[in-house]
Amino acid sequence: MIDDKIIYEDLLKKIDSLISRDILTVSNLCNFIAAINESFSKISWIGYYFLKDEKLYLGPFQGKVACNIIKIGKGVCGKSVEKGVTLIVPNTHEYPGHIACDAGSKSEIVCPIFYKGKIMGVLDIDSYEFDAFNETDKIYLEKLLSLLVEKIDFSNFNIL
Ligand code: SME
Repeated sequence: MIDDKIIYEDLLKKIDSLISRDILTVSNLCNFIAAINESFSKISWIGYYFLKDEKLYLGPFQGKVACNIIKIGKGVCGKSVEKGVTLIVPNTHEYPGHIACDAGSKSEIVCPIFYKGKIMGVLDIDSYEFDAFNETDKIYLEKLLSLLVEKIDFSNFNIL
């Protein structure tokens, strides 16, 4: 099995060349998640929730239909925003308050997206496998998100 670190190192290079200020922010956001999704068979759903007025709103995603709005503190996404850290949930069935958009989801990782020192949203990734995400995913997804934020101009980005 190819080491996830090798896949992520390739992804860092791929996304660096894929993301550009010359194209629409929404296109960059979509290609970012598409590149990650096509690199890992363990992913069942990947997408963004963006923060506005104490609520998280569904952004671009790949996967099944998902919940539109999540309050801060609710579910894994809302908890990640409340705590300001990446959360890894090895078994979503055992996570109190987990929001099951897809009953098949068994594990999840949620990483906050920081822009100018503030959380602007989260990247949420689900899997149909238990224990699909670990410290390697956390480290590299955070690196990938830093790269995304560095390369995109979010100053005129309005989610609503
Ligand atoms: N499971 C998430 C909700 C979003 S879906 O997974 C797409 C949560 O508990 O916050």
